[in-house]
Amino acid sequence: MRFETWSKSITTLEVDCLIVGIFEESGLSDAARQIDQAAGGRLGKLLARGDFPGRAAETLLLGDLPGVGARRVLLTGLGARAALTRRSWRKALAAAIGALARTGVKSAAVALERPTDETLDDYYVGRAVAELTLSTLYRVNDLKSGKKAKPAPLAQVLAGPATRTSAPALERGLAHGQAIGEAAALQRDLGNLPGNICTPRYLAEQARGLARRHRSLSARVLDEPALRREKMGCLLAVAQGSAEPPRLIVLEHKGGKSGQAPVVLVGKGVTFDSGGISIKPSGEMDEMKYDMSGAAAVLAALAFAARVKLPLNVVGIVGAVENMPDGKAVKPGDIVTSASGQTVEILNTDAEGRLVLCDALHYARRYKPAAVVDLATLTGACVIALGHHHSGAMGTDETLVRELIEAGVRADDRAWALPLTEEYSEQLKSNFADFANIGGRDGGAITAGAFLAKFTQGMRWAHLDIAGTAWQGGAHKGSTGRPTALLADFLLRRAEQ
Ligand code: BES
Ligand code: MN
Ligand code: ZN
Repeated sequence: MRFETWSKSITTLEVDCLIVGIFEESGLSDAARQIDQAAGGRLGKLLARGDFPGRAAETLLLGDLPGVGARRVLLTGLGARAALTRRSWRKALAAAIGALARTGVKSAAVALERPTDETLDDYYVGRAVAELTLSTLYRVNDLKSGKKAKPAPLAQVLAGPATRTSAPALERGLAHGQAIGEAAALQRDLGNLPGNICTPRYLAEQARGLARRHRSLSARVLDEPALRREKMGCLLAVAQGSAEPPRLIVLEHKGGKSGQAPVVLVGKGVTFDSGGISIKPSGEMDEMKYDMSGAAAVLAALAFAARVKLPLNVVGIVGAVENMPDGKAVKPGDIVTSASGQTVEILNTDAEGRLVLCDALHYARRYKPAAVVDLATLTGACVIALGHHHSGAMGTDETLVRELIEAGVRADDRAWALPLTEEYSEQLKSNFADFANIGGRDGGAITAGAFLAKFTQGMRWAHLDIAGTAWQGGAHKGSTGRPTALLADFLLRRAEQ
């Protein structure tokens, strides 16, 4: 896919299709008016007949308008002018790209009127055009036999209008949007793969592959004996019931000065979560193949950093395991020792994510990080609290939590703060070990965070619970690619500081 800018007057642009906006009630957008004038009032007539009311995200494809250089014009509803927001603009754009994907259009120019909202400046317009094009055209890894659907012919998308002053920002936005779109596609591919393909060893192989393709990246993989040497008793306890051996994956991007403290991203990589001996109910258990979405987001974020040559040191750490019931599996009541030396009573083997993360977070310490952020499909309680729109953000560093939330707003990949105050850790008391791995039903997303906080003392740390946002269930079942865009924006800002 090629992303470029357009700057000529849109009526003379020679592309397969122009994407222009129509407002509900008030009608033609500025771009549509120019086309209408060139085409002898055809658009105005069409609207007057009531053939295209301009409802949000509706589209109508017109061919061969006289006086217009482009072969087609895609009218795209923007809804009421006063109600146009960044969000509805993005929806309309995605709908337009989706409509074109079902046609023979190979090149398109986006001339959609944008909201006057300052948050959608030239840079973010460029970024949205590239990112949304790639996410709309994304197709799930093809594991079906038989006839293959042809990929959409769309190969070139232009954003504009680019003036001498706006072009650099638009171009930078397009480049970043493309890198984000590609990273999100990587995350989605990894998430959508079934647990029998995407195993801990597979994730490790993916990290090695990224390191081979990008000079700034290097990968290191710890196998089971190495994990034992690191005394990662919690992570190993989760893995011990599975025939798939665990891995700790470290993927480093060296983009900053040597000696610059890195940002460390830590991902939960449970490639299948059956619950273990505390086995889950069987309904929708297949969706627990997505329990490695945090790990996939870490690999995607590192791929993004390498792709845009981010001037920042970033370390990705992934704890990759499969959680299964077995004669050798860890049992409720078992007490294990984490790499930090603290002991944990495993009261529920389904609260395995925090066991994997606590050892992976401890491993982050050796990098003397500027900040540590972990990403995890950690709790069903977070889904109950926030639904599927916001990831749960919490941590012991308020500034870092705020940074992540703001990155999510700019990236349209939002997170909401949950209060990780000290009271919550009281729920983790154990009679037999330093603490238990569960804190009861109440505030379950936060007590999970409180557990992690026991292992991040002294580090600037925040946690994103992406249990509700990383994938969709039901008819549109599939990975969403979240929170890759949030992470990319967070890293971009960090690199600017
Ligand atoms: N991977 C799950 C969390 C999850 C559940 C994500 C449903 C998305 C949808 C996690 O390992 C888990 O099982 N958590 C338990 C914790 C409980 C036992 C304290 C949960 O949320 O039920
Ligand atoms: Mn679980
Ligand atoms: Zn899990």
